[in-house]
Amino acid sequence: MQQKVRIAPSILSADFARLGEEVRAIETAGADYVHVDVMDGHFVPNLTIGPNVVKALRSHSKLPFDVHLMIAPVDPYVAEFAAAGADIITLHPEAGPHLHRTLQLIKSHGKKAGVALNPATPVDAVDYVMDAVDLILVMSVNPGFGGQSFIPEALEKIKILRARIDKSGRAIDLEVDGGINDDTARAAIAAGADVLVAGTATFTGGAGAYAGNIRRLRGG
Ligand code: DX5
Ligand code: ZN
Repeated sequence: MQQKVRIAPSILSADFARLGEEVRAIETAGADYVHVDVMDGHFVPNLTIGPNVVKALRSHSKLPFDVHLMIAPVDPYVAEFAAAGADIITLHPEAGPHLHRTLQLIKSHGKKAGVALNPATPVDAVDYVMDAVDLILVMSVNPGFGGQSFIPEALEKIKILRARIDKSGRAIDLEVDGGINDDTARAAIAAGADVLVAGTATFTGGAGAYAGNIRRLRGG
């Protein structure tokens, strides 16, 4: 069943010199998750942040930390992100040879496990791991950078995955990430997404604008 729409601001678009304040500001503004984009300059062509930053931010918010790993390998870092305070840990199937094992590893730390599908990755990648996943993330841009344009083919994948999740009977989050603005948010929700990652669209206009930005993305 499609759950209530939740907004997950990507702190990639926040002011990195004031990250604690920014995380507090999005919580006050009504965000549901804090989306943390972790990039290694190898799996994707950009470098961002690691577990120490997650740890430093943890005390600034009670919201679930939704940690999107764009790194390879993943397994050696799961324990550190879990200990740092991640609540959901999501990886790309291309990051290693044993997706199921990595999902089990994440769950063995008591965390929710997610699978992220790149624009060219077929939905079949989750066919045999549905029992092990708590979140499926549909990338609507190629991972690596904020501020890119939404790839419309993602909507078709969201529709297919919505049907598969409903058939599973489990409360799996269906998250969309990349190029979300007021218009693409509406299209993604209509297709069946229930968690919207939004970097640029959240962090535009300074802290005073965040609540309005989040409300509009939710469709309200
Ligand atoms: C891209 C990241 C996204 C990105 C979204 O690799 O996974 O979370 O920061 O940024 P916007 O919302 O600006 O497209
Ligand atoms: Zn992301």
